[in-house]
Amino acid sequence: MCVCVCVCVCCCSGMDVTMANGNRVNALNGTSVKIPCTFNSCYKMDPNRFVMNWTYQETKNDTKEMFMKFDSKSKGMVLLRTDRFGDRVVFDGNLDKKDLSIKLLDVQVEDQGLYHCYIINHPDRIQGHGNITLYVVHELPPPRDSTIAVAIGASVGGVLALLILSMVVVKCLRHHKKQELISEEKMEEEEKLEAEVVAEEGTKNAYPLPEDV
Ligand SMILES: *[C@@H]1O[C@H](CO)[C@@H](O)[C@H](O)[C@H]1NC(C)=O
Ligand SMILES: *[C@@H]1O[C@H](CO)[C@@H](O)[C@H](O)[C@H]1NC(C)=O
Ligand SMILES: *[C@@H]1O[C@H](CO)[C@@H](O)[C@H](O)[C@H]1NC(C)=O
Ligand SMILES: *[C@@H]1O[C@H](CO)[C@@H](O)[C@H](O)[C@H]1NC(C)=O
Repeated sequence: MCVCVCVCVCCCSGMDVTMANGNRVNALNGTSVKIPCTFNSCYKMDPNRFVMNWTYQETKNDTKEMFMKFDSKSKGMVLLRTDRFGDRVVFDGNLDKKDLSIKLLDVQVEDQGLYHCYIINHPDRIQGHGNITLYVVHELPPPRDSTIAVAIGASVGGVLALLILSMVVVKCLRHHKKQELISEEKMEEEEKLEAEVVAEEGTKNAYPLPEDV
């Protein structure tokens, strides 16, 4: 009994509204842009009681203009005429999937601003709210940023690889040379020893190593 109540309270006290990552979206003027809004609630959406609206705000200090809302009579989204958008805004979501996204067509500089998504999913009494800031740009950020990063990454990688390779080669050469030197020295030593052995053969003494001399 107690557990059940707790679960209900925990679950239904949260109304999550999700918009875009970082709450901002860039759009190139003249193109279309999707302004996402989805929500999560433990209550099933009841079209007879569902309440939501989209409002636009030029800046934080300006008044909010409602331009779209959910209509419980037609059980769908309705566009409210505004001078700003005309019919350049369309519903682009899916009510069955709690997706209330819209799409803005032929984006104009004046469309830049804050877009609010307000939701009340009765019997949940908490109003969900999300906002997104739309920035209208005249040029898409050049993709060269990533190209340069890749180029730098590749060249750094290439240089590193070359460096490592040359180090390995140098080491190998040195090792080889050293070994040659060593074998030369050894041969010399052996020759010397042989010579000494030959020289000392008669005395039968243990032949002294060169270091001991
Ligand atoms: C976007 O804006 C630029 C600069 O204001 C303009 O030259 C261009 O024609 C616009 N593009 C579209 C598709 O409206
Ligand atoms: C629309 O959103 C506003 C927030 O600006 C909210 O106060 C209001 O209750 C909402 N209206 C409807 C009809 O959903
Ligand atoms: C909003 O108003 C405050 C003071 O009321 C002001 O300091 C701020 O600069 C204004 N912001 C914008 C974006 O106009
Ligand atoms: C926009 O949403 C964020 C949380 O995502 C909130 O902190 C901020 O106050 C909201 N801005 C406005 C103007 O409602």
